[in-house]
Amino acid sequence: MHKLGQDLINRAVEAAKNSYSPYSKYKVGAALVTVGGEIFSSCNVEVASYGLTDCAESSLISKAVSEGMVTKYGRKFIEAIGVVTRDGGMPCGRCRQRIAEHCDDCEIISGNLEGKILEATTLKEILPKAFTPSSLGID
Ligand code: THU
Repeated sequence: MHKLGQDLINRAVEAAKNSYSPYSKYKVGAALVTVGGEIFSSCNVEVASYGLTDCAESSLISKAVSEGMVTKYGRKFIEAIGVVTRDGGMPCGRCRQRIAEHCDDCEIISGNLEGKILEATTLKEILPKAFTPSSLGID
């Protein structure tokens, strides 16, 4: 996992360079690896009416889904996610919920914009007792 974790962080660092964050100036990059090994990456995209801003992890999931990952692997396609910010910030609550839609559990690695890994944890650790599709009887 360590080599893959660093690969994800490196891809997230590259994606963060495309961050559109003129309001917060807080660049976020995210990358995920699927259960089949594909890697996707994305960044945060802000909007002048702040509430419409899309987080990096959220736009990342939309990107992977629109590129066919649910079609290929089914709903649970995420194996691990790497996120980078200037201070190693972890995914926000909304993003944790979005990740939970696409795996029972996964590795979450956070790092900084220089590509240094700062923390490795799991979705279950940061979103315990989640409400998920299984709560609705959906596999
Ligand atoms: N942001 C993310 O991209 N991911 C998170 O999990 C937390 C926050 C973005 C949204 C906004 O563009 C900036 O970081 C400051 O909140």
